Amino acid sequence: MSVAKKEYKRVTVKSLVDMKKNGEKISMLTAYDYTMAKIVDGAGIDVILVGDSASNVMAGHETTLPITLDQMIYHASSVIRAIHRALVVVDLPFGSYQSDPKEALRSAIRIMKESGGHAVKMEGGKEVKDSIKRILHAGIPVMGHLGLTPQSIYKFGTYTVRAKEEEEATRLKEDALMLEKAGCFAIVLEKIPAKLAQEVAKSVSIPVIGIGAGSGVDGQVLVTHDMVGMTHEFNPRFLRRYMNLYEEMTNAFTQYGEDVKSGDFPNESEQY
Ligand code: KIV
Repeated sequence: MSVAKKEYKRVTVKSLVDMKKNGEKISMLTAYDYTMAKIVDGAGIDVILVGDSASNVMAGHETTLPITLDQMIYHASSVIRAIHRALVVVDLPFGSYQSDPKEALRSAIRIMKESGGHAVKMEGGKEVKDSIKRILHAGIPVMGHLGLTPQSIYKFGTYTVRAKEEEEATRLKEDALMLEKAGCFAIVLEKIPAKLAQEVAKSVSIPVIGIGAGSGVDGQVLVTHDMVGMTHEFNPRFLRRYMNLYEEMTNAFTQYGEDVKSGDFPNESEQY
C-alpha cells in the first residue's frame, strides 16, 4: 500500500515548491536503472535521484569521484525510460562542473539532451555559484546539495556529521540563501544537525530535502539499495532499513544453487 499522495499526475519542479507551501512532505529515492526506477515510480515516490552514489552502489568504487558523465548519462537514460510520474534529477558528477561555468553548462546540457533527465543536482555553495547561474540561465533546473558533499570527501577526510561548529553552520546557512537567490528549485542537506537543517528549511521558500538531517525539513531522500537492505555494510544512524533484501536474496541464490546441483530445478512443469 502506498501512502504517497498522487494528486500530482506528473511531478515538476513547481509541484515541489507547491508541496512545501502546502506542508506536504516530499519523498525522494535513488535509482540507477530501468527496473528499479519502474518500481520506485510506481510506488508514487515524488523525485527519483540518479545519484552519483551509483559509483559506490553499482560500480563498487569507494567514493563517488570516479563515475563519469557518460556513465551518469547511461544510468539516467535507463531511469527515464521507466518513469511516468516522478521528477528525475541527475547528479552532475565530480569533474564535470568544478573547473568553470562553461564546462558546467556543457555537462548539464549533455545530461538533459542525452538522458532526458528533468533537472541536475550539484554539490557546493558559493564556490559553484557562477556555474549554477549559467546552467539556470540556459533553462535547466538545478537542485543544490550542502552539508556532507561526498565529492569533497578528500577535503573533509571523513563521512562524519558536518556543520556542527558555528563557523561551518553559518557558511551553510549563507550558502542555502545564495542557492535560493540564484534560482535553485530545491536543496539537499546531507548529514547535518537536525536543528540546523530545520532552521535552513524555515529560512528559504524552496524545498529542503534531507538525508541524515532530521525531520524538520520538507522531504527525505535515501539511497534505495540501502533502504531495501541490498547493501548491508553501511549502517549510519539515519538509515531506516525497510527490508533485508541482502539476506532474502542470499537465501534465494543459495537455494537455487542447491536446486541446480541436485537436479531439482527445472522440474517437469518448468520445461517444454
Ligand atoms: O548520490 C546520491 O545518492 C546523493 C544522495 C545521497 C542525496 O547525492
